Amino acid sequence: MAFSVPPPAWLKVCTTCDRYAPVTGSIGERLAQALDEASSAMTSAGRLAFRRVPCLSGCKFPGNIALGASAKTKIRLNRLRPEDADDLVALAELYAASPTGEVPEEDWPVGLKGHLATVIKPRLAGADQSRDQPPQERTSGI
Ligand code: FES
Repeated sequence: MAFSVPPPAWLKVCTTCDRYAPVTGSIGERLAQALDEASSAMTSAGRLAFRRVPCLSGCKFPGNIALGASAKTKIRLNRLRPEDADDLVALAELYAASPTGEVPEEDWPVGLKGHLATVIKPRLAGADQSRDQPPQERTSGI
């Protein structure tokens, strides 16, 4: 029986932003399409799992993505646009290379500075991590 190794990072994009716009998903779907293309090399190399999700709980400031991995610090960024896709993939590469998921702010792509909305630290060692599964196991939230 073969076991798959989870990628060192997952990236989720909210496809329902802007939920308050006349056409829901006006920003999120365009961001998702841009990210799908920009992240293709990283996803095909098995270094990133890319998922579209209905909401990342950042609706007040549309254009939300989350970066995470098992036992790493998770982050959510907001107010993103399709033009940010390449910078987001660059950040995802830094995130994947970090054993903790912590990427010093000075290393972030300049275009993403000021977009950090949420930081979630991993649970303490020994705590139940069974809910901290790759995105194909869960479909929403961070
Ligand atoms: S609709 Fe995008 S974060 Fe809620």
